Amino acid sequence: MAKRIIGPMPLIRKDRPSPLTRIMKGRHSSLDVLFERSYSMKMGEFTGLRRRFYFLTQPDMINRILASDVDLYPKSDLMGTVLHQILGNGIFVSNGETWKKQRRMMNPAFEFARISEVFPLMMDSANEMKARLDAVADGREVQIDFEMAHVTADIIFRTIFSEPLPRDEAEIIFNAFNHYQELAYIHGVWNMAGLPQALSIPRLRAIRHARNIRGPLARMVRKRFELLQTNPENPPQDILSSLISARDNDGSRFSEKELVDQIAVMFLAGHETSASALSWALYLISRDRDVQDRMHAETELAFGGEGGFSPRNFKFLKLTRDVFRETLRLYPPVSVVPRDITVPEMMRDKNVKKGSAIFISLWLLHRHRDIWKNPDMFDPDRFSREDEKEAIRSAYMPFSQGPRVCLGASFALQESAIILSMIARHYEILPVEDHVPKPVARLTLRSENGIRVRLRKR
Ligand code: HEM
Repeated sequence: MAKRIIGPMPLIRKDRPSPLTRIMKGRHSSLDVLFERSYSMKMGEFTGLRRRFYFLTQPDMINRILASDVDLYPKSDLMGTVLHQILGNGIFVSNGETWKKQRRMMNPAFEFARISEVFPLMMDSANEMKARLDAVADGREVQIDFEMAHVTADIIFRTIFSEPLPRDEAEIIFNAFNHYQELAYIHGVWNMAGLPQALSIPRLRAIRHARNIRGPLARMVRKRFELLQTNPENPPQDILSSLISARDNDGSRFSEKELVDQIAVMFLAGHETSASALSWALYLISRDRDVQDRMHAETELAFGGEGGFSPRNFKFLKLTRDVFRETLRLYPPVSVVPRDITVPEMMRDKNVKKGSAIFISLWLLHRHRDIWKNPDMFDPDRFSREDEKEAIRSAYMPFSQGPRVCLGASFALQESAIILSMIARHYEILPVEDHVPKPVARLTLRSENGIRVRLRKR
């Protein structure tokens, strides 16, 4: 078997960091406060000024929180007003009956059949990505995380609005969201420490950036309503049309404000996550020649013959899909899933009080020393091995699980298969010597120093 690589890791401390170190280091990224034992613990705790926080990596208890007793553990509101400035009360942040109604109305737009309808729109974006990459695929360095954010934002934009993302609006949104993510995360740590919201300067600055993200999306929704007034007969076949025509059991529909909330959720949840995973995947295969060559051969077989690059041929991409799945294990874009505790209870040996918050750490669960074989190693073939089946069944959940499982999982798997297979088929992906990305956990898992590779046309 070819030698497998271990991808970049945060600096892992030997000893448990002191509370002060945890606040100072953790304000940039929760990964910076992990220590060796975090990777074999099942539950840990830390205290803010007003609340206690727990993290959990025990599969059966996670299953209870996310799946069987889900009403007892609502989504935590640590980002508070900051997230609401962009997402309103959209499906990603809502709870209770409001969430149930939203989910009922949005599920149909994301069923597998509907997702395959947007295949041609995804292909248009991927072909434009290829044209951009062709222009730089002469062995020079490429800022691949930027390229992946560009293509995934374009895909979600086209599938929502049936038009490409205009470059000037794209730049406004990219820049605003970069700043926003960092500030929102710092504000979350501020909230955890129990400091007053009103004094949080990161919060005020994040809110300013939030307006620059929501504003262009709200304008697009308005434009569609105007179009529908002049031409109601032929609405475009896209996600916005599905949401406008969605009705709940009692016949009610989304208001314009609610539509903007949901579109903002789709846009943000739908591109940053996929962009993060695709960038890490390309970094990993730039360092693993064996996997890369096998992916190239697989894409040649799938698309080289009759039918070309068509949805029918995607079933032949087993390795490409496993590369993406293994990347989601090692670098889960949503690295922590936070929930609130609404009833006091004993969890393991801890007396957990009502009002505490619990973080399900997918980063730690996916690398747990007692669950996985060679947990830090990039090994896409583990998804074909009998001896890893149980770990995958019980402890692999990059899209979460239970009723609040990611609504866009099929969408993400389809777009990433298109993008990864297109890149593996047409380019060699080469490493940039001495470039080691540093993973940081913000709203999504990113690299603090970017992700770079070199591309060369095959
Ligand atoms: C690789 C890509 C993706 C990953 C790893 C991912 C992961 C997740 C996770 C872990 C959650 C649960 C968060 C929580 O409960 O706290 C979630 C929720 C969600 N995701 Fe994704 N996601 C991805 C792509 C997408 C895409 C492409 C879309 C939309 C097109 C999307 C839309 C959503 C929505 C709407 C929710 C909220 C669902 C609910 O609360 O009912 N995601 N995602």
